[in-house]
Amino acid sequence: MGFHDDHDFSFTSTIQQLNTMNINLTGKNALIGGSSKGIGKACAIELAKLGANITLVSRSPEVMADIARELPRVAPGQDHDLLAVDFSDTIDLKKKVKMLVATKTIHILVNNTGGPPGGPIMDARTEEFIQAYNNHLICNHVLTLLTTPGMRKAGYGRIINIISTSVKAPIPGLGVSNTTRGAVASWAKTMANELAVDGVTVNNVLPGKTDTDRLREIIGDVAARRAVSEETVVEGMMSEIPMGRFADPGEIAVAVAFLASPAASFITGISLPVDGGQTRSM
Ligand SMILES: NC(=O)c1ccc[n+]([C@@H]2O[C@H](COP(=O)([O-])OP(=O)(O)OC[C@H]3O[C@@H](n4cnc5c(N)ncnc54)[C@H](OP(=O)(O)O)[C@@H]3O)[C@@H](O)[C@H]2O)c1
Repeated sequence: MGFHDDHDFSFTSTIQQLNTMNINLTGKNALIGGSSKGIGKACAIELAKLGANITLVSRSPEVMADIARELPRVAPGQDHDLLAVDFSDTIDLKKKVKMLVATKTIHILVNNTGGPPGGPIMDARTEEFIQAYNNHLICNHVLTLLTTPGMRKAGYGRIINIISTSVKAPIPGLGVSNTTRGAVASWAKTMANELAVDGVTVNNVLPGKTDTDRLREIIGDVAARRAVSEETVVEGMMSEIPMGRFADPGEIAVAVAFLASPAASFITGISLPVDGGQTRSM
C-alpha cells in the first residue's frame, strides 16, 4: 500500500506540473530574421507579447526602428533593438552578430528571410541556386554557430526555421525555393540531433499560403506567366486549401511562439506545417 501511496502522490504532482503550460518568455532574448514585415514581423510581435526582448533583423533600419518602438513591452525591463544587415553579405552578417552576442545571450533564434524568386526549375540559373543557398542555408548556419554557445551556457535554446510546405511536396513554379527548402530541413534535422543534449531544440515551421508581400508577388508572377487575372490565381490557390483561405501571418507566429517557449521543451527535429490542411497530413 505504501508503494501505491507514494506512487499516486508523485503521479499527481507530475500531472499538476504538466497542466501548467509555461509560454512565458520574460528575460529571453530573441533574434528574428526577416522581421521588417510579413511572417517575421508577426513573430516579433507574438514573442514580444510573451515578454521576450526582440532583435529585429532585415535590410530596412528605418522600418525596423518604427516596429521596435511599437512592439509590446509587457515585462519589467523588456526592450527591443535591431540589426540592419543584408543576408547576401555573410561576412557583414558574421561581424554584426559576433558583436551582438558579445553583449547579450540569444536564447531564441528565428531563421527567416525573403523567399527566392519564382519560376520553373528548368529555367533556374546556377547563380539563383547559389544565392538561395547562401541566404537560407548558409545564413542559418552562421547565425546558429554564433548563437548556440550562449544557448548552451544558458541551458535554454530554441532555433526555429521558417521554411515552407514544399519540404513535404514541391510547389509548382518554385524550383529554386523547393530545392533550397529541402536542404534547410535536412540541415535542421541534423542540427537537432547534435544540440538536443544541451537543451537546445531545433524545429521547422512550414507556412502554407500566408497573406504577405511575398505571396502577393507570387500571385502576380503566376498571373503574368499564365496570362490570367490575379483573382483567378487566388481562387485556384484557395481551392487547394481545405480551409479555403490564406493564413494571417499571426497564425504562423503563434506556432513559432509555442516552439520558442519553455512548454515546448521536449519537441525537437520536427517540421510543423501551418497550412490550413493543404499538405493533408503528409
Ligand atoms: N507568405 C507565404 O505564403 C509563404 C509560404 C511559405 C513559405 N514562405 C516563406 O517564409 C519566409 C517569409 O515569408 P514572408 O511571406 O514573410 O516574406 P516577406 O513578406 O517578403 O518578408 C521577407 C522578410 O525578409 C527580409 N529580407 C528579404 N531579403 C533579405 C536579405 N537579403 N537580407 C535580410 N533580410 C531580408 C525582408 O526585409 P527587407 O526587405 O526589409 O530586408 C522581410 O522582412 C520566406 O522564406 C517565404 O518564402 C512564405
